[in-house]
Amino acid sequence: QLALDTTVFGRKAVFLASTLSTQGDVLKLAEQGQAEGAVVIAEEQTGGRGRFGRQWFSPPGKGIWMSVLLRPDLPLQHTPQLTLLTGVAVCRAVRACSGADAGIKWPNDVLIDGRKVCGILLESTVEDHEVRYCIAGIGVDVNFDPEDYPEDLTTIATSLKMETGQSVDRTKLTAAILTELEQLYFLYQKEGFGVISALWEALSVSMNREITVTNPHGVIEGKAIGLDPSGALVVEKRDGEHTLIISGEISWKS
Ligand code: BTN
Repeated sequence: QLALDTTVFGRKAVFLASTLSTQGDVLKLAEQGQAEGAVVIAEEQTGGRGRFGRQWFSPPGKGIWMSVLLRPDLPLQHTPQLTLLTGVAVCRAVRACSGADAGIKWPNDVLIDGRKVCGILLESTVEDHEVRYCIAGIGVDVNFDPEDYPEDLTTIATSLKMETGQSVDRTKLTAAILTELEQLYFLYQKEGFGVISALWEALSVSMNREITVTNPHGVIEGKAIGLDPSGALVVEKRDGEHTLIISGEISWKS
């Protein structure tokens, strides 16, 4: 069903009308020994999951709800690099397919005009401090109309259709995401994180902003000045000290 020009990603693709969460479906494939690049795509998720244990609104027919299996040879501390890579891939595909001026909010939300059109959930299974596999969950609000959103999402979420005034072909966008993801993943394996980091910084809307970081360690305020070689966000605090952020959520005043 997908016209793919990839060699590995999406070669094994499972399409489901409805599922709890595509993350769980890919987890099963991973445990069965399925090769890297396998994807599960659902029309609807009844228990879609977001970061920090949040729910992810995944109604039928209007979005892309997809999970991809990755088997990188990676120390655990480098998994944030994959999180950032996935954000770059999706942002590039969204820009190419919709023409929208999409940018990345750290670590990997894709925003248009300050509202979120895409969320990414990277989950890693670890054994003996080694990554066994990662599951990249990608959710894109493609053809939602304003009335499709529950009230609590209207101010923070948006869709490609709402931003561009035009419906976007979900099949084409899905194929474009998989192509971008495969190309960047292969590039990353060959060249390392440096080139991905530069792409991320160029697409990021968080760079050089005064931000507030909230994570279990507390709240940090400062200016986001870039990524360090491991993929952590470098924040320059008011006193000039640099702090590395590897997880959490950021916000800024617009
Ligand atoms: C976030 O921004 O909090 C991440 C959202 C990730 C949503 C996608 S949709 C496909 C996959 N299945 C899920 O249950 N979640 C991810």
